[in-house]
Amino acid sequence: MACRQPLTPVLRQLARTTSSELGRQSSRAQTFALARRATKASAASTSRRCFSTTRQRALKSTAPTCQAQSKDDFTSTKYPELKRDERFACLTPDHVAYFRGLLGESGSALIDGVTGEAAADLAPFNSDWMRKYRGHCQLVLKPSSTEEVSEILKYCNDNLLAVVPQGGNTGLVGGSVPVFDEIVLSLGRMNQILEFDEVSGTLVAEAGVILEVADQYLAERGYIFPLDLGAKGSCQLGGNLSTNAGGLRLLRYGSLHGTVLGVEAVLPDGTVVDDLSRLRKNNTGYDLKQLFIGAEGTIGVITKVSIQCPQRPAAQNVAFFGLESYEQCQRAFREAKGQLSEILSAFELMDEGSQALISQVTGTKRPLESTYPFYCLIETSGSNADHDSEKLQAFLESVMEEGVVADGTLAQDETQLRSLWTWREGITEALGHLGGVYKYDVSIPLAQMYQLVEDTRTRVAEAGLLGDTDEYPVRAVVGYGHMGDSNLHLNISTRRFDARVEEVLEPFVYEWIAERQGSISAEHGLGLAKKKYIGYSRNPTMVGLMKQIKGLYDPKGIMNPYKYI
Ligand code: FAD
Ligand code: MLT
Ligand code: ZN
Repeated sequence: MACRQPLTPVLRQLARTTSSELGRQSSRAQTFALARRATKASAASTSRRCFSTTRQRALKSTAPTCQAQSKDDFTSTKYPELKRDERFACLTPDHVAYFRGLLGESGSALIDGVTGEAAADLAPFNSDWMRKYRGHCQLVLKPSSTEEVSEILKYCNDNLLAVVPQGGNTGLVGGSVPVFDEIVLSLGRMNQILEFDEVSGTLVAEAGVILEVADQYLAERGYIFPLDLGAKGSCQLGGNLSTNAGGLRLLRYGSLHGTVLGVEAVLPDGTVVDDLSRLRKNNTGYDLKQLFIGAEGTIGVITKVSIQCPQRPAAQNVAFFGLESYEQCQRAFREAKGQLSEILSAFELMDEGSQALISQVTGTKRPLESTYPFYCLIETSGSNADHDSEKLQAFLESVMEEGVVADGTLAQDETQLRSLWTWREGITEALGHLGGVYKYDVSIPLAQMYQLVEDTRTRVAEAGLLGDTDEYPVRAVVGYGHMGDSNLHLNISTRRFDARVEEVLEPFVYEWIAERQGSISAEHGLGLAKKKYIGYSRNPTMVGLMKQIKGLYDPKGIMNPYKYI
């Protein structure tokens, strides 16, 4: 279970220094004295941010197998166009008996709502993190080995039982929960770290290892997991690969398509695909493991992962800026790349709306005294604190001198560093506390990126849906994201999910993106949320090839049905 950390205010503020004041300063060192105090972090203590991301929810009891309930919050009720595929068998006590025989009687291996009452235990597996989707699953299976996964899938394939693989259930597109009565195959018990090579940095682990656990294991050995994200306390490596999660440092460490060296996966017919290579280079034919990265559980179950982990940086700095316009954010990014080059490890964007909402939820003091339309968080990670500080100082000086940045603060120690990060990482959770969120995770050429937020806000306001009082479903339209990757998170924070809001947003948002050759799914995947919209980012030839791959790996279609493919 993830741990909760309050959002605490930043303690020190960077001295406000206008360009005229700068002229009066005799030396750079004086001007940015604060910047000198780079965080010298030991490998084990660096950047351990931790969020509660898995909320237990008390849902009402679910219906008997195969019967949809007419409750408003079931996915099948909200989206009546989704129909249960009648080819799939309904679960019977005989099926359950088979799984009990395979996994044992222990409650930790199976949750059975078919032959008994288990609504409360099933509830967290049926409902997604956003509480937007809710399924009717009656059986959760928790295998503890690849062999058990193989036996389960073979049986499901032979008996036409549909399956949803589930990791930490932190996915944001409804891909990790069933729509109807699919069996949930939960990887949480496959949580062993199997190997680590301290010379090469290659980690081999089971798919159910929690990301933060893997990172802490690596920290003790001077390494870092090449992926970091706000849900790290709950999400699992198998889920990370299956969504091809991007996270906060993709800018530095690249995508999982590059860092993953090998995968072990089980196909629906029970075949174990052993591609668990530890090799950095391996050009022997098609790179089949890549198909599992980003497949969202539609072609098989990832059971093991081999991944290349970088050396953990010895020094980290985090700066948080206020900026007057999106143009200035772009300038700051350009300067950061140019001046910080190899030590730049994150460049994140937040608008005032997103920060105001965190502040409203947490009640904590904002990092800067004034408010600005935009904020950027910059992180550097390097091996030499003095060298990094010097570079960062020069950068800070130049962006202040040029008037690119209006105000800023620099973390003075590990606590402040983590605190500053919460103003970026904490947005998702804060929005979740306020009600329903319509989330769009998109890639657009940088120059046009923020325009989407403004155009969407205008559209929602013109539809009469945006306002400060309870009669308006929409509270705010905000934007934040991984500016370093041209990845915007457009979020529409609502007081309650409302079909009228969805109609105003979709397909408007997707059309807007397609017109600019963007991607409708930069990092979260398609899941159920974007099922209808894949055509806005992929042409018919590509969708056709994807369908052929799906047909080849999963001819009976039992893997995560009703989702994007
Ligand atoms: P789940 O949610 O359980 O599953 C996700 C998908 O993968 C589903 O389709 C599921 O069927 C499939 N799946 C899971 N495990 C397996 C397996 N072993 N084999 C086959 N298929 C499997 N995402 C980002 O990319 N970047 C971010 O910065 C980011 N930040 C987040 C912050 C918060 C607070 C939250 C709640 C979510 C965030 N996410 C982010 C989204 C989410 O955390 C990631 O998508 C994560 O990788 C999902 O991992 P999981 O284990 O929770 O997978
Ligand atoms: C993030 O970058 O914070 C995550 O992708 C989650 C979100 O989009 O809210
Ligand atoms: Zn993100």
